[in-house]
Amino acid sequence: MKTVLSINSSILGDNSQSRQLSNQLLERIKTAHPSVKIIERDLAKDSLPHLNGEQFSAFITPPEQRTAEQKVLAAQSDDLVQEISDADTVVLALPMYNFGIPSQLKSYFDNLARAGMTFKYTAAGPVGLLTGKKAIVLATRGGFYFGTDKDTQTKYVKDFLGFIGITDVEFIYAEGLAVSPEQKAKSLAGASEIITAISI
Ligand SMILES: Cc1cc2nc3c(=O)[nH]c(=O)nc-3n(C[C@H](O)[C@H](O)[C@H](O)COP(=O)(O)O)c2cc1C
Repeated sequence: MKTVLSINSSILGDNSQSRQLSNQLLERIKTAHPSVKIIERDLAKDSLPHLNGEQFSAFITPPEQRTAEQKVLAAQSDDLVQEISDADTVVLALPMYNFGIPSQLKSYFDNLARAGMTFKYTAAGPVGLLTGKKAIVLATRGGFYFGTDKDTQTKYVKDFLGFIGITDVEFIYAEGLAVSPEQKAKSLAGASEIITAISI
């Protein structure tokens, strides 16, 4: 493992549970791989605007045909694609907000879905291009959703990462964090135990 991309999108700052779990995992990774390079992307602090028509149009225009304005509109997304391309492992903190993923994370995904860069269309359907990576997802929730049809996150995140070629995806859950202090402590301890044992 040479490079880890750590992605956070919690709006709760130092009180973020997903950030605390991802920090635990990063500490473990640093201990196991002292020379690892860790890149931190905080989507709540440095949020990306919603994808709009002008930006999407810049994405799908071949680079050599882009106007000066389109070059600017594609540049940040190009950099984000390069950043995740360079990573061997992605540590994705995944809070649940209003039954879904944080909108900041959705905007980030919208910047990563780039035809010809992160996926390509073939006769057999789309093929992801960011292969050979592993993603570890730390999912934190106030309630309990795992294994129910209200878990809108797991399948969506797996589908999206798979679409761009990241098919080795492991989820660690801490659920019921808003149920009671006892439940919160129990769920976080359970997630920590898995983090301690996960093969990295
Ligand atoms: C704006 C907001 C919306 C939330 N919506 C949900 C929800 O729909 N379902 C749920 O189980 N918990 C919900 N929660 C609780 C969070 O999932 C919980 O606080 C979790 O720890 C979030 O991760 P974080 O601490 O890293 O931000 C919500 C919390 C906030 C702040």
